[in-house]
Amino acid sequence: MQIRSSSGSALSLETGALVVPVFSDARLDGAAAAADRELDGALAEILASGEISGKANETALIHAKGLPVKRVLAIGLGDRTKFEPSALAAYAGTAVRYLGKRKVTSVALTLPLEANHHARRSASFAAEGALVATIETTTYRSDNEPNPVADVLISTWADAHTFDAKAVEEGVHHGTIVGESVNAARLMALTPANDMTPTLLAGRASELAKHSGLQVDVLDEPRMEKLGMGSLLGVSRGSDEPATLTVLRYEGDPGNPEILALVGKGLTFDSGGISIKPSENMHEMKYDMSGGAAVIGAMSAIGRLKPKLNVIGLVPSSENLPGPRAVKPGDVLRAMNGKTIEVINTDAEGRLILADALCYARELGATKIIDCATLTGAMVVALGHAATGAISNDEAFVKHFLTVANGSGERYWQLPLYDDYSTAVKSEIADLRNSTGRAGGSLTASAFLQNFVGTTPWIHLDIAGTAYLDGETSFRAKGPTGVPVRAFVAFVEELARTKTHASNGAAATAATA
Ligand code: BES
Ligand code: MN
Ligand code: ZN
Repeated sequence: MQIRSSSGSALSLETGALVVPVFSDARLDGAAAAADRELDGALAEILASGEISGKANETALIHAKGLPVKRVLAIGLGDRTKFEPSALAAYAGTAVRYLGKRKVTSVALTLPLEANHHARRSASFAAEGALVATIETTTYRSDNEPNPVADVLISTWADAHTFDAKAVEEGVHHGTIVGESVNAARLMALTPANDMTPTLLAGRASELAKHSGLQVDVLDEPRMEKLGMGSLLGVSRGSDEPATLTVLRYEGDPGNPEILALVGKGLTFDSGGISIKPSENMHEMKYDMSGGAAVIGAMSAIGRLKPKLNVIGLVPSSENLPGPRAVKPGDVLRAMNGKTIEVINTDAEGRLILADALCYARELGATKIIDCATLTGAMVVALGHAATGAISNDEAFVKHFLTVANGSGERYWQLPLYDDYSTAVKSEIADLRNSTGRAGGSLTASAFLQNFVGTTPWIHLDIAGTAYLDGETSFRAKGPTGVPVRAFVAFVEELARTKTHASNGAAATAATA
């Protein structure tokens, strides 16, 4: 799919469909009003009749005989007063899926006047949404057909108004990179475990790294052994497939000691190990590397967008199988920082592989850490599929993250990290135990991880409920979502921006002193 910005009246474009926004107040303005005039009031009539009401992602298709645009597709954006640029991802996605199903190959998207002061972000969300809409879960089917929409124009024209062309063009460039990276993460997650072993995952990360100008280092088991990563290696023992730890590096601000580490759980298949899972839905555990895939996707976007910040991505990857050498309940493992862990339940493996990766992130100089993992079923119980849980040891850091992440088109909700949870993960025979009772399962898991970040500001994102979804929507196929690629990219860009301001301020102060 090629996405470009376009100027001039979108009504005169020779395209398969012109997409215009309508709000639930049924008031037509901008591109929608102009299209309505050309259609002799057909759009106003459809709204007046109640055929559509302007609710989010509602669609009405009008064939436009005699116009260069063959069709006009009106798409609902909901309440005008609550408009957010991020809604344009679903708007564009709905257009691409609706029209793709009807064999349309080229589309022109117009933006609502409400996007006026956010032209860059709006265009970015539209481009991202268009790309995200193209993925299907049917890649292994012989009758798999890619979405036929090949050309998307994002128009700077809105009747009497014109959006800043440079801002729209920049937004399209940005959104294309974000959308491609979200899709890269989703396609990795979608790939079944036989085609996505820890070695293949590291290979895919290396490929993307090359394409995005990142440095890459894949640690094999002998190197992990030397580093004392007994916790990660303990999980890997039950499988014939060796574990990998992929490290991606992006140096956007050479010489600055500040390094943000993104760490993602890359469990390519979680059977539960000796504490084996029930067979119902076990196949879904091929998605247990979604966090790792998101880190790889986000790093790839960061490498291409080039923000002024140093970022490293770490993806510990392993299978969790009940092989003859598998870790057994009651075994004690020793992590890289020397802490000993009693394995109560071999199915609580995510925290075991993350433990060593978090230690290694600090060893590599990380001054801030964010990890993401499909870590606990308890997270799905707590927040359902509506939001990712965020748990942190640093209030200011997590508040900053939440503000930015919640504007990225993804949802985050903070949960507490009380001392009570730390007490619960203490073991009688070792420093820690990897599983406690059912109470507060996502929070005791967080308290466990906290033992491996020391005093470094850290946020843990439990994406168990948000990494993949059962149902298709108008703008996205079912399956992997790519969460938290969007939030990671948005937050890295925000840190790069705010850091620049801070150092400018320091320079100004130094100059006057
Ligand atoms: N990968 C699972 C968590 C999970 C469950 C993700 C459902 C997505 C959907 C994780 O490794 C796991 O098995 N966690 C256990 C922990 C327990 C044994 C302490 C769980 O949540 O049951
Ligand atoms: Mn598990
Ligand atoms: Zn798991």
